[in-house]
Amino acid sequence: MENAMPLANTAQTYGSVTKTFHWLTALLILALIPLGVIANELPYETDAQLALKAQLFSVHKTLGVLVFFVALARIIWALTQVKPGDLSAGASIQKHLAAVVHWLLYISLVIVPLSGWVHHAATSGFAPIWWPFGQNLPFVPKDEGLAETMAATHWLFSKIMIGALLLHVAGALKHHLIDKDATLRRMWFGRSLLPQTMPAAHGGLVAPVTAIALVLLTTAAATAAGLFRDHESLQSVALEQVASDWVVTDGEIAIRVTQLGGLVDGRFADWTAAISYDPDAQGQAGEVDVTIAIPSLTLGSVTAQAMGADFFAADTYPVARFTGTILRDGDSHSADGTLTIRDQVQPVSFPFDLTLTGDQAVMTGSLVLDRRDFGIGATMRDESSLGFDVVVDLAVTADR
Ligand code: HEM
Ligand code: HEM
Repeated sequence: MENAMPLANTAQTYGSVTKTFHWLTALLILALIPLGVIANELPYETDAQLALKAQLFSVHKTLGVLVFFVALARIIWALTQVKPGDLSAGASIQKHLAAVVHWLLYISLVIVPLSGWVHHAATSGFAPIWWPFGQNLPFVPKDEGLAETMAATHWLFSKIMIGALLLHVAGALKHHLIDKDATLRRMWFGRSLLPQTMPAAHGGLVAPVTAIALVLLTTAAATAAGLFRDHESLQSVALEQVASDWVVTDGEIAIRVTQLGGLVDGRFADWTAAISYDPDAQGQAGEVDVTIAIPSLTLGSVTAQAMGADFFAADTYPVARFTGTILRDGDSHSADGTLTIRDQVQPVSFPFDLTLTGDQAVMTGSLVLDRRDFGIGATMRDESSLGFDVVVDLAVTADR
């Protein structure tokens, strides 16, 4: 038994440097996970909500970058250290599992903050990192495709980390409360009575190889499930130029959905409209034909999921279309016709405001659709995960 707590690990126990690294990491990680989840799910409908969301993300990113350096220092330290021996004799599934979980924690401890940081550097993020070394990283270009891949990686490996952490904490508690052994005590500070240890029975390559195999399997499964699908690499549809009496010079088709109680908004970058309209007519005043390239949708961090088979199924149904008649009654207008999304054709009446100035027309309108009418998110029958209502906001400027 040593008299003072050693700095370095011994055959019996962890040294104070390892302990400090361990509990500093634990503190930071246990703060970062809820911060990430909460910041991610906070709505941003009002300025105040947006400010809070951005602040939480800044805290998350700033602490996260710190964790990255702490993790690197810790790993370099761990490489120089002996591992304390086992507290019980023999090899067991439990000991192997514990070692595999340690590897999963180390792997995710590097990949989670690194992917977050690269994601931040690759996109034009709205919440800055507060460390004074800028928002960019060398060798990381501004590239939305890369940003999405990194965001997906961050998501996946934070889930791997959470899973490993649950097992890790459950194991520590089991040792402490059920086995009543010194496993937790020797990672805690201060001197404690420590029993003699046996040589570690779970060394070798089995644990790291198992951990890496688990990581690869999980990544493969997530890829197959569409996590890494880059909507920009989807077969993008080339929309043909349309002949139109009124030529759209500016416009936006935006959608808003509620996901897990938080608002997600997005827009279609690619669409065409053929519009005929007689400003002097009443009743049937014109025709409209709008074609929308589904893969051109960006929808926050859920863009890739929105393209998936359960949602827009962009591979199979790359365009949506609205054709209708413009009806005018006094000063009020609507476009009445059919909207086709996926393989569903639905009658739609779209009321809009029209302002004419000379040969320029500005129309704005909003419409609430029910996603179930179009078979979108059919597996999400619950409003709490994905709202049924989808608000479509349209703003178009067209010149005659
Ligand atoms: C509050 C929750 C936590 C508790 C109760 C806890 C407990 C422990 C205990 C008792 C050990 C020693 C295991 C042994 O001697 O075999 C240990 C080791 C370890 N813990 Fe934790 N831990 C916690 C959080 C974390 C976190 C957040 C991480 C990293 C993400 C982490 C990573 C590790 C690693 C990598 C080891 C192995 C250290 C080595 O052998 O070099 N732990 N933990
Ligand atoms: C070990 C450190 C970190 C942990 C444990 C962590 C954990 C998390 C978690 C659990 C989420 C929520 C994911 C979800 O459920 O959707 C998240 C989101 C996020 N984190 Fe981290 N994070 C860490 C470091 C970082 C760093 C260093 C950055 C950037 C510099 C960062 C940027 C982000 C961003 C931008 C999101 C939102 C992702 C999205 O929009 O898809 N994180 N993080």
